Amino acid sequence: MRLRKENILIVDDDLHILELLQRHLHSWNYHTYRAVSVKEAVAILKDTHIDLLITDLKMPQIDGFELIKFVSEHYPDLPKLVVTGFPSVQDSLKAIKSGVVEYLTKPFTKGELQAAVAKALPKASKEPVKNTVPKSKHQGEIIGASEKIEEVLQIIDRVKDNKATIFINGESGTGKELVARAIHYEGKFSSAPFIPVNCGGIPENLLEAELFGYTKGAFTGADKDRKGAFQAAQGGTIFLDEIGNASLAVQARLLRVLQEKEVVRVGAQKPEKIDVRVIAATNNNLPEMIKKQTFREDLYYRLSVVEIPLPALRARMSDIPLLVDKFLFKYGVEYKDRFVRIDPEALEVLKRYSWPGNIRELENVIQRAVIMCDKMVTIKDLPDHLKYSLEMPEHKLVSLAQMEREYIKKVLRSTGNNKTKAAEILQITRKTLRNKLDES
Ligand SMILES: Nc1ncnc2c1ncn2[C@@H]1O[C@H](COP(=O)(O)OP(=O)(O)OP(=O)(O)O)[C@@H](O)[C@H]1O
Ligand SMILES: [Mg+2]
Repeated sequence: MRLRKENILIVDDDLHILELLQRHLHSWNYHTYRAVSVKEAVAILKDTHIDLLITDLKMPQIDGFELIKFVSEHYPDLPKLVVTGFPSVQDSLKAIKSGVVEYLTKPFTKGELQAAVAKALPKASKEPVKNTVPKSKHQGEIIGASEKIEEVLQIIDRVKDNKATIFINGESGTGKELVARAIHYEGKFSSAPFIPVNCGGIPENLLEAELFGYTKGAFTGADKDRKGAFQAAQGGTIFLDEIGNASLAVQARLLRVLQEKEVVRVGAQKPEKIDVRVIAATNNNLPEMIKKQTFREDLYYRLSVVEIPLPALRARMSDIPLLVDKFLFKYGVEYKDRFVRIDPEALEVLKRYSWPGNIRELENVIQRAVIMCDKMVTIKDLPDHLKYSLEMPEHKLVSLAQMEREYIKKVLRSTGNNKTKAAEILQITRKTLRNKLDES
């Protein structure tokens, strides 16, 4: 008999059905994993290569549809077979729409199961499912359907398989690190290391040693030769985060590394050849820094061979419901053992806020709301400063000047009274902002 290697994950809260499915599948030499809840299934999917998912629909806590939705988002190539005891036309339609390949009604015969599995699986055998490699994981993590995010995904696709230097620019919390990781893990160098270095978090004198390595005796405490991040990333990617914080001395050395494709350890003379893709990121405005001569123009041009500007969340508000869904699923499973929903009024508040902290802020807000909520997330579970955005009734007609004042106040509130940030959002200078505030 042919030894099958396919891994099948069975999810059902009914242990008898699990046993039955497992017995049949084993008799055909499939390897099985079992889960009695969506939470368990998600944990297995994270760590295991699965070729086929067989799931029940009606389960307590989180139901099978949520699992199907999760799998479609995170493991789009994984075929799905639904086994259910309560078939309804709506459910069948919904299942088929959400990409379910096969649908089996309980009770079923052994032959029916075999046929359904065989029909669902060939897809997986012909094109191996890549759900264990971080590929689909990272692809699935970048959520968004707006044009702006589509553009970002397209650039990732173009650059992932070559070693061109990439510069990611975006406000705090817009996903710079997430995009850097996606480029690395989705591309053909993904089995080589991805080494992140936070240029802002390491004292200047240590940063050089951290990046380029050092030789024994190069400075006090250097008791043996050590590789730097560039050597550690050999064949893969180095992620230079917060590059705007690197000193001019480090910038000069980085420029040399990019030009010569070789590094010299601190304390050494001889250069070492390196073959590393460089991805740099910052939330600083580098052209501004160049004007002030705190960032080297030549390094900027070297770094920005391919530039990926990440949109602020307020520039792609249409993605908010998708992101909210993702975080509700994540934290619902983590804290409440079920999928937590949000009421439309609360979602409306989220859609109106200006999100100065971008996706990280949104994620924190949802995390807290899931912890605080009863059955579903409602307005009372959201932080106060978000709710102010609802204060001005839309039907109330006011003068332009009043509207301007109200809007300035709103932006100030949503930035936590950060005038620099508010002026940036309003696209006026701080001085103009001050004047306008004095007037009101
Ligand atoms: N498009 C996205 N879809 C889903 N989650 C996202 C997306 N972009 C960012 N996130 C999440 O938001 C959080 C912040 O992302 P990340 O750390 O990549 O931001 P950053 O731009 O590096 O921020 P900072 O400048 O503050 O370091 C992470 O938890 C990340 O997973
Ligand atoms: Mg970051």
